Amino acid sequence: MTTAAKEPPATAAAAPVAHEGLRDVVALESSICTVIGDANLPEGRLIYRGYDIHDLAEHSTFEETTYLLWHGNLPTRAQLDDLKRQLEQHRRLPDQLIELMRRFPKEATPMDVLRTTVSALQLWDSQENDDTDAANHAKALRLTAQMPMLVTAWDSIRVGKEPVAPKVGQSTARAFLYMLTGQEPTDVAERTLDIALILHADHELNASTFAARVTAATLADVHSSITSAIGALIGPLHGGANEAVLHTLKEIGSIDRVEPYIMNKLNAHEKIMGFGHAVYRTRDPRATRLREMSRQLGESRGDLKYYEMSRKIEDVMMREKGLNCNVDFYSASAYDALGVPMDLFTPVFAVSRISGWTAHVLEQYADNKLIRPRAQYVGQRDRKYTSIEQRA
Ligand SMILES: CC(C)(COP(=O)(O)OP(=O)(O)OC[C@H]1O[C@@H](n2cnc3c(N)ncnc32)[C@H](O)[C@@H]1OP(=O)(O)O)[C@@H](O)C(=O)NCCC(=O)NCCS
Repeated sequence: MTTAAKEPPATAAAAPVAHEGLRDVVALESSICTVIGDANLPEGRLIYRGYDIHDLAEHSTFEETTYLLWHGNLPTRAQLDDLKRQLEQHRRLPDQLIELMRRFPKEATPMDVLRTTVSALQLWDSQENDDTDAANHAKALRLTAQMPMLVTAWDSIRVGKEPVAPKVGQSTARAFLYMLTGQEPTDVAERTLDIALILHADHELNASTFAARVTAATLADVHSSITSAIGALIGPLHGGANEAVLHTLKEIGSIDRVEPYIMNKLNAHEKIMGFGHAVYRTRDPRATRLREMSRQLGESRGDLKYYEMSRKIEDVMMREKGLNCNVDFYSASAYDALGVPMDLFTPVFAVSRISGWTAHVLEQYADNKLIRPRAQYVGQRDRKYTSIEQRA
């Protein structure tokens, strides 16, 4: 048996104290985005570069919002046209990468494929070993253009089909829906996805953005930083929650089963996906928008089942736990109504969040400091090494 010291050493008093989950710890300065979630507000606020998310959802486009996140100001007409032209120009994937994707196991999850292919894209990037500011901006742009292609190409490849090439003049939202289905989407579908992309574009130091910044702060390249972010987004407590919400809706099946289903889960101390938030202690403004989008889409399809079930779940969760739904809750029924396959919900999140991730990576490079927090040590101390023969 090994022995542990009973008393902590005298220096322990000065040791760092853990902030569980880093809640309310301010890790760095950023001028990209802020989240205000105080409990006394009727609704939280999400602000990109000084603009309220409702204002942007109402008037902006994903491309314009991306420009705003990257450059700090809304673009002029010429700047926006230039960005759109460049995004279109870079909507292409290396043939070798498509070949590689054909060899992936067909049952690979789209998020695993996205993480792997973003990492692989670095190998064919024309500026692979160039870490100048200009090259990093160009990589951010290329990745933003390529992300929708990676997601839709995999959706085709996994069922033995050829990836669909985008058409000239398509927005990110239109190109995504077109590449996904091979059909021109309606204007309503395009605008709905466009707004969803604006709503998901950034969210301050959420887990995946923090992961991206931690990696960037080591001065690793853009692709590595985004690969880290995608890994963090996969988890059900973060981006994976939207897919889990649709699983829940399918499992419940009908509105009359909502109450017993949720009560059973809560009594078993299980979490209901799409509820709660680490920052918002009030309503999530993105959920307000997505709820309405889910209703409108359901109405236009003549099928409000998931919307109505979602409203009922909200009521039960508010009554039982006092918890509001988050961005993932209504994106599930909205994406389902748009015809997006369930396992592409989290990849759609990534298609949008790439704009925020890259904005943060560029901001990190611009004024870098290695991110290296401390841990509060709670392990044993002052143990004496024992030879292997003496160990029990
Ligand atoms: C997002 C999340 C991780 C935030 O975590 P947090 O603010 O640290 O809150 P905690 O996980 O510590 O939970 C605080 C309390 O609320 C409860 N709670 C939080 N989210 C809950 C949920 N979705 N369902 C049921 N109870 C929940 C916890 O069980 C805990 O209760 P307790 O104090 O009785 O133990 C958490 O709300 C969650 O896991 N939600 C579900 C996943 C999800 O939707 N993620 C997407 C986020 S945008």
